[in-house]
Amino acid sequence: MTGPSAFPFNGDAHPFVRFRELMDHAQWRIDVRGLDAAVAIVDGKGLRETPLVESPELATELGVARLWIKDETGNPGGSHKIRHLFGLALRAPAEAPFAIASCGNAALAAAIVAKASGHGLEVFVPPQMPAQVRKRLRGLGADIVECVRSEGDPPGDPCYRRFRERVREGVYPFCCQGSVNPWTIDGGRTLAWELVAQLHVAGAAPITRILVQVGGGALMSATVNGLRLAQELGAIDRWPRLHAVQAAQHQPLIEAWQRGEGHFMDQLADAPGDFMRPTAVVPQSVASGILDDETYDWLPVVRGMRESDGFPVAATEETLTHARDRGRAATGIDVSATGAAGLAGAMELAARGELGRDEHVAVLFTGVER
Ligand SMILES: Cc1ncc(COP(=O)(O)O)c(C=O)c1O
Repeated sequence: MTGPSAFPFNGDAHPFVRFRELMDHAQWRIDVRGLDAAVAIVDGKGLRETPLVESPELATELGVARLWIKDETGNPGGSHKIRHLFGLALRAPAEAPFAIASCGNAALAAAIVAKASGHGLEVFVPPQMPAQVRKRLRGLGADIVECVRSEGDPPGDPCYRRFRERVREGVYPFCCQGSVNPWTIDGGRTLAWELVAQLHVAGAAPITRILVQVGGGALMSATVNGLRLAQELGAIDRWPRLHAVQAAQHQPLIEAWQRGEGHFMDQLADAPGDFMRPTAVVPQSVASGILDDETYDWLPVVRGMRESDGFPVAATEETLTHARDRGRAATGIDVSATGAAGLAGAMELAARGELGRDEHVAVLFTGVER
């Protein structure tokens, strides 16, 4: 069946029940409701459709007609990451040990879902991981492996390197990098599908732009892929313009985008290392969740921006802080600077006079303040 009727605008509040037919569910080994009930035992709640909030106040500040915010902060683990990991747990081999490299939200979501599904989890973390995250990970039974960056190391994140080694040794990549485990993108798409459905149900005009904060790139890769399928099914007429947002302090995707100008997508894919280059220094930013050394899933992100007439945006530390503070004050959502970085990108575009008065803009509040 194709056409809008194939897209579940309404239905079950659990994204993996509602959008099951749009996902690659043939390989799911365990029951969605069973895993969800186990997640609820571990974290006090299961996965449900997250709120879509409109902020007339922030729309006025941006000088646009409407601003929509998809609020992911109430998810188990406090971020959107559970969407990626819930999907992986459904299809992971029974008994396989899991591993992930992360310093925050992804590790927490991974530890919750791993515990719920009865798998052991190794987490490769940097020494600067916040103490309360470390404590919670321990409480969830994760095996924490600290990876120190040493002089003479090759460029790139040592946590990611150790994680890749373990994957080569046979552990299951329970991660939020589509470059290592492409299935992580499958569940991540539920966020975009919910957004499409909620706008439809609200009778709202289509959004003209969406701004997505990018660290490793899986969130935006999943958003691009989700919107593409929604369009193929007739659920949206055309894509909004897509903008990746990074911290001006650390912008590997934006640098790759610039190096790639004038090249075809095939050329980027054939020689990725010529365009995407991992950093050799530890980057700093108030948006600490998007400081991945490299944007692992950069190719689908670049393609999505090119195809939608979008482009990436750098947000200064001042704007990232302002977006967090204004985002919190205007909505009452306990969002972090990383979580509000998409709004920071919109603020940067507004300051440059890029946003039209009649625009309908969407951002994702992806993570709670810790
Ligand atoms: C709250 C939050 N938002 C956005 C991101 C970015 O997601 P991705 O790494 O998939 O680009 C992260 C990544 O850790 C995050 O923790």
